[in-house]
Amino acid sequence: MMSNDNRHVTSVADPAAMAEAAAERVIARISENPGRVAICLTGGSSPKQLYQLLGTDPWRSRIPWQRVHWFIGDERFVPADDPLNNMRVARKTFLDRCAPASNIHPIPTSTADPTDPDRGAALYEGELKAFYGADDLDPGRPLFDLVLMGVGPDGHTASLFPGDPLLDEVRRWVVGVHKANVEPFVPRITLTLPTLACCREMLFEVAGSDKRAILTRVFAGENLPATRARSSGETIWLVDQAALPENFRA
Ligand code: 6PG
Repeated sequence: MMSNDNRHVTSVADPAAMAEAAAERVIARISENPGRVAICLTGGSSPKQLYQLLGTDPWRSRIPWQRVHWFIGDERFVPADDPLNNMRVARKTFLDRCAPASNIHPIPTSTADPTDPDRGAALYEGELKAFYGADDLDPGRPLFDLVLMGVGPDGHTASLFPGDPLLDEVRRWVVGVHKANVEPFVPRITLTLPTLACCREMLFEVAGSDKRAILTRVFAGENLPATRARSSGETIWLVDQAALPENFRA
């Protein structure tokens, strides 16, 4: 494990090894909390192998499903059964087979106005506050045990895009994003940086040579959403060999 600017970077061989390492982190965080556990999932293609592992033995039987709650850090503003819907991917891959329905917390996207993500954002903010039991986040009492993240080719993370004033949002927990910077070009709903940060651990999964250029910029500290996304606890980057920047190679 290498450390750089309070960020832990763990290099793994390939996407399969990355999924195993991420599954170990999920189990570790669950084991550290004997009570109600909250895990915030992510969209994109990077976490799919992890989701498959979590729904398959031996991992599946290591998870105390009754006391683990599953949230999502951002959502595409499409119906819950649309193939682009992030929570749909997680549900189909493992949640629907393993988790009690009341422990699955999707971001609502079927609001009255199909062009306005703000209402869904406000509803999800209400759900998070009810779960947390307070209207203000206290870093000493993390909202999430684990927050999974990915990074896009432009340095976005969750649905926080470069240059968007929403990156500076400190009051709202969840916001509507009317314009996406990358495909799919649908509105989004995303947790804000302070909400994502309120966790014991933030875990990025990054794989593939097409991610190496953006990762080089993120690790150099350029002002990008993925650079600014930090946990108030631990922030870990799992990076496969193909994505690992030159100066991080042994
Ligand atoms: C989304 C995501 C997004 C994703 C990155 C990385 O809804 O698209 O949550 O932030 O994590 O774009 O995506 P890949 O894993 O597909 O590279």
